[in-house]
Amino acid sequence: MKDFGFVEWFRPGDRARVEQVMPALEASGAAWLRTHISWADYHAPGGQEWYDWLLPRLGRRMELLPCLHYTPPSLSRTGKSSGAPRELKDFADFTDLVMTRYGEHFEHIELWNEPNNLLDYDWREDPGYELFCEMIHMAANWIRERGWKPVLGGPCPFDPAWLELMGERGVLDYMEAVGFHGFPGTWDSENGSWSGWAQHLGEMRAILERHSPGTQIWITETGYSTWRKDDMEQARRFVQALDAPAERMYWYAWQDLQPEVAVQEGHWFDPRHYHLGAIDADGRPKLLARMLAQGGTSRLREVTRLYAPGLPGQGRRPVVITGGAGFVGSNLAESFLAEGRDVLVFDNLSRPGVEENLAWLRARHRDLVHPMAADLRDSRAVADAVGDADAVFHLAAQTAVTTSLHAPVEDFEVNARGTLNVLEAVRATMGSSGRRVPVIFASTNKVYGALEDLEIREGSEAVRPADQRHEGGVDESRPLDFCTPYGCSKGVADQYVLDYAASYGVPAAVLRMSCIYGPRQFGTEDQGWVAHFLISALKGQKITIYGSGRQVRDLCEVSDAVQAYRLVHDRIDALTGRAFNLGGGKRNAVSLRQVVAEIARITGTEPQVTYDTWRQGDQPWFVADTTALTEATGWQARTGWRDGVARLASWLAEHRIPAQEGSVTA
Ligand SMILES: NC(=O)c1ccc[n+]([C@@H]2O[C@H](COP(=O)([O-])OP(=O)(O)OC[C@H]3O[C@@H](n4cnc5c(N)ncnc54)[C@H](O)[C@@H]3O)[C@@H](O)[C@H]2O)c1
Repeated sequence: MKDFGFVEWFRPGDRARVEQVMPALEASGAAWLRTHISWADYHAPGGQEWYDWLLPRLGRRMELLPCLHYTPPSLSRTGKSSGAPRELKDFADFTDLVMTRYGEHFEHIELWNEPNNLLDYDWREDPGYELFCEMIHMAANWIRERGWKPVLGGPCPFDPAWLELMGERGVLDYMEAVGFHGFPGTWDSENGSWSGWAQHLGEMRAILERHSPGTQIWITETGYSTWRKDDMEQARRFVQALDAPAERMYWYAWQDLQPEVAVQEGHWFDPRHYHLGAIDADGRPKLLARMLAQGGTSRLREVTRLYAPGLPGQGRRPVVITGGAGFVGSNLAESFLAEGRDVLVFDNLSRPGVEENLAWLRARHRDLVHPMAADLRDSRAVADAVGDADAVFHLAAQTAVTTSLHAPVEDFEVNARGTLNVLEAVRATMGSSGRRVPVIFASTNKVYGALEDLEIREGSEAVRPADQRHEGGVDESRPLDFCTPYGCSKGVADQYVLDYAASYGVPAAVLRMSCIYGPRQFGTEDQGWVAHFLISALKGQKITIYGSGRQVRDLCEVSDAVQAYRLVHDRIDALTGRAFNLGGGKRNAVSLRQVVAEIARITGTEPQVTYDTWRQGDQPWFVADTTALTEATGWQARTGWRDGVARLASWLAEHRIPAQEGSVTA
């Protein structure tokens, strides 16, 4: 199956969401959209106006499959929308109205939804489905009569006996297609009721062949809830459903349910209901939507193939790198892989583009790379990853201060709670196996706060500390001062790592990093500014500098950072419980303006720069004093910032910027 569709239910009055959702849904490459027309809502005040507004908007963009269901309570035998209508023909009359009023927007009409689900059809009042069959019979007959094509709503869970009954009663004779609903791994238990796509659809095909050969099978609802944050699993399930032996597949749903909306069973009756979308409730794409938008189902297949944890050979324990597909993580992974070590890359691929780093590692080192596309917030997945680890380098994080200010809870859950998940997994492993598993954590210089007490002198190109004694940089004796949610969550994590060394004897150390830059960095305005400036300059795009541009950072090239991680790991027994600053130091202290000037020299064109107000938590000056790290390990920042920036420019021009866009002259 190449084409696919989405299911999206819109609530009366949800106009803003329709306008927001439809362009992205269309851009996902979906060919079809299944949505519902509630007969009950249609008869409620404002119902007709709502559908008059909605259906042309949807039908203009995509081929629609309207699913008609829910009896108006005043017409229902039970007084509820799940009851059969007192006059069974009323439903056929409603289909007639729908065809007359909106029929130009679709070819097919689905008759009822999940007839074996008590919330959709109260079969206790109609145990033999006599009323149901008569109602559907009349509606389907009339739909055919008028030239549209009926589709029978799928039961959930799939029930072959019910379908057989529909065949015996002649209902299937009218149907162009029959719906199938199945949610393996979410509502259908793979240890119990779910036997696989081939088995269920095979069974269904056999029944159709007996009663109504030629009737198609449409998967009118399948989906996977990411309530455990396992977005890659959702993407994989989508591919599996796409390959199922059916003529169509509609994925439920495009967007997560808004948290304030109640489901049929009640508000937050079950969290699984709230995470079925390809994008989240705020409109942020999950892996599935991102890959579809990037390159359709072929891109999705490529990326889901990257998920192949595998097992290292007998007796070989992997180095586990959380965030191993990220910028620093993939460089660190490469250094171990190049020595023939197994590396388990634990990464949810949430940073756009990092799947390319993972693909690069896989292409170079094949089976030594064990990708595990999982989320730090999934403590069971973290425990699985860490169980056999030789060492854990914990780099995965929500990395942007700006994002942390918009979504502080998520930032906390990933950075603080996620780190605790890693530490707990290591503690459990050490407890059960007696093995000592080192943990090295990627912290940040942001734990020292905005350095507001440091008096600064303005220079024409760069600021400097008023007191010369500070020019050597900030050392680890500086008191911690967490600010911004990112600073807090990373700072909490930093302290927990050190405490697990003290309280539980976990061999653990922390590297508080300044600005790291280099190849494999997907820099954006929010994080990774050196790469972002270069990418913008190479593409001829504008650079925005927040603040005066004279703020100073000590740049550290990623190969030097990797070396620091390796050295601390090699000496972990001596260094456990310690935190070290890691940066380019005084020799690589440079202002943003100076970097822009250097970029102009390297690329031969002056980047367009605009200035904006300072961003919250920005340090006007930060230079790491790395003496402690040098004394403990012999480490030195070997790459001068000019060489490093030039090397990154060449790498970006070759690997990230299409040929005609970027040129580097030095
Ligand atoms: N690059 C720097 O200048 C710098 C400076 C200070 C600290 N740090 C820290 O270093 C670490 C690595 O930074 P980077 O620049 O390589 O960033 P990056 O964004 O390239 O890498 C982070 C990786 O973590 C993954 N990730 C994010 N959330 C996750 C989650 N919930 N579960 C699993 N994986 C998740 C992302 O997909 C990404 O691949 C981060 O912890 C960051 O806070 C970086």
